[in-house]
Amino acid sequence: LRRRVLRGEQTLLGIAALAADEVQVVVAGAIVAGGRVLAARRSAPASLAGRWELPGGKVDPGESDAAALTRELREELGVEVEVGEQIGPDVALGPRRVLRCLRARLLDPTRPIEPTEHDQVRWLTADELDEPDWLDADDELLPHLRTALAAR
Ligand code: C5P
Repeated sequence: LRRRVLRGEQTLLGIAALAADEVQVVVAGAIVAGGRVLAARRSAPASLAGRWELPGGKVDPGESDAAALTRELREELGVEVEVGEQIGPDVALGPRRVLRCLRARLLDPTRPIEPTEHDQVRWLTADELDEPDWLDADDELLPHLRTALAAR
């Protein structure tokens, strides 16, 4: 794990030297409600299917992080959110790509989640965070998610 994190940090140092428009940001939502965070299981591509993530996707050119996350969560889960602060650091996904986790609050918590791209969703307490088989980058955010859950 230490080796993987170290490699991630070195990749991030490299990314810091790139102009903002040379880095692809992937935003992921930490949707927190009632002391739980929403995890979603990927159904595609085959190499990632069955693994869990914080739902989100790529920021389009000229789009803000918050607008991208709002759009992705509407498309993928049928929910409307208010985007809050970043949780944890940017995590390197590759030489020019980072995962950025942002807090997201459901505008209507009573409205059911309707996944269009994921085959399961699950609300996790802080104690359950380790249970899913997370994507590697999301896994690195778990300590920060745990702190964010404890703060509410
Ligand atoms: O969801 P989408 O396929 O657009 O995301 C682009 C890439 O970002 C994925 O292939 C995955 O490698 C990565 N990703 C991630 N963790 C997330 C969301 C996306 O590692 N929570």
